Amino acid sequence: MSTDRESATVASPARIAIDAAVLSKPRFTALPPLALYVHIPWCIRKCPYCDFNSHAAPETLPEEAYVDALIADLETSLPLVWGRKVGSVFIGGGTPSVFSAAAIDRLLAAIRARLPLAPDAEITLEANPGTFERERFAGYYAAGVNRLSLGIQSFDDRHLEALGRVHDAREARRAAEAALMIFGNVNFDLMFALPGQDVDDALRDVRAALGFGPPHLSFYHLTIEPNTLFHRYPPRIPDDETAADIEEAVLFALDAAGYVHYETSAHAKPGRESRHNVNYWRFGDYLGIGAGAHSKLSFPDRVLRQLRWKQPMRYLDQVAQASPLQEDVEVSRRDLPFEFMLNALRLTDGVPSAMFAERTGLPIAVAASAIAEAVRKGLLEPDPAVLRPTPLGRRFLNDLQSLFLADRGAQP
Ligand SMILES: C[S@@+](CC[C@H](N)C(=O)[O-])C[C@H]1O[C@@H](n2cnc3c(N)ncnc32)[C@H](O)[C@@H]1O
Ligand code: SF4
Repeated sequence: MSTDRESATVASPARIAIDAAVLSKPRFTALPPLALYVHIPWCIRKCPYCDFNSHAAPETLPEEAYVDALIADLETSLPLVWGRKVGSVFIGGGTPSVFSAAAIDRLLAAIRARLPLAPDAEITLEANPGTFERERFAGYYAAGVNRLSLGIQSFDDRHLEALGRVHDAREARRAAEAALMIFGNVNFDLMFALPGQDVDDALRDVRAALGFGPPHLSFYHLTIEPNTLFHRYPPRIPDDETAADIEEAVLFALDAAGYVHYETSAHAKPGRESRHNVNYWRFGDYLGIGAGAHSKLSFPDRVLRQLRWKQPMRYLDQVAQASPLQEDVEVSRRDLPFEFMLNALRLTDGVPSAMFAERTGLPIAVAASAIAEAVRKGLLEPDPAVLRPTPLGRRFLNDLQSLFLADRGAQP
């Protein structure tokens, strides 16, 4: 009779092989919450700072063909999300408001017929004030959109012109007013550190936005992205010191007005956080349909990332051949801790530590040395119950996140 110890010794080569295979896979006991993202890749005009997958709309927009393609795309993806409830839908772009209310109505009806949408699902649509018509916005609401995200950027004509926006401040105000009247649940996107902007200009924008009292405000630091017109012909943007002063003043004013700064760029009245975006930051799952859309989907023993064809016309062709995916890869176990932290540490309050295992399928021990280093450097709170960045960690977020890169030895 052999002892356990002996049999373990005898069987060790095979055991090691099996253990390695098991450990190379995440293990989920329950799958993360699921959201749906729908990408509409067209805008009235391409803005010179924007590197999103957005293209100036052709004279005749293939609206009907594109909605058909989205529905076909969704159908090919259904086996990947069978039976899973969808908590939020985000129709983003590009500028989804270039589509008619009838097109959005057909899209949402098709989604509802194919996916179990939660009765209280948050359904957001991104809109540009340059596409504003009262009937159009009311039509989106009637179609089931219950949250509008409006790309205001600034309430100052000088800055809107420098940004190459298709609308002026008056149109931004009219769209903001109507959005709040129709939807109530509204986000304004604004940017700061704009060409020629100083602290007073930025504060005027904040005051103008606060004057409408939207439940949610996203304030983005304008970045000069590669492959944009601003990269090729750089405008004069505020120097780092002025940009930091602007940011400090903006954050102070939003805080004083009762907005909670809950994520790097997001501010909300208490309880009015974007549920869809919070799901991304908590490393939830999402199915993304439409040109260039990304998906992240978990299964009991793996996490998949998918990317759809980016060029709108190529996407339409590929969907017609029932193959919308340009990339379909399994996320390596080594990359999961970094991907989780990349998102979770953007949240001011971080996440409960237990969420690491729930959302990566890996024991938190795999990140223990990186967590210890982050705590030692004063970037992460020492409380073992939460993964929360310190104020220093929020300020040097990239440094904090990069501690979790696989090649930094975060894995045992
Ligand atoms: C898809 S757009 C929103 C809807 C619509 N396309 C619009 O611009 O009105 C998303 C947001 O990203 C922000 N954004 C785009 N490019 C940016 C950049 N280079 N730096 C900072 N924020 C940027 C803008 O605030 C923009 O409203
Ligand atoms: S910022 Fe918005 S409107 Fe401008 S190109 Fe990008 S997606 Fe289109």
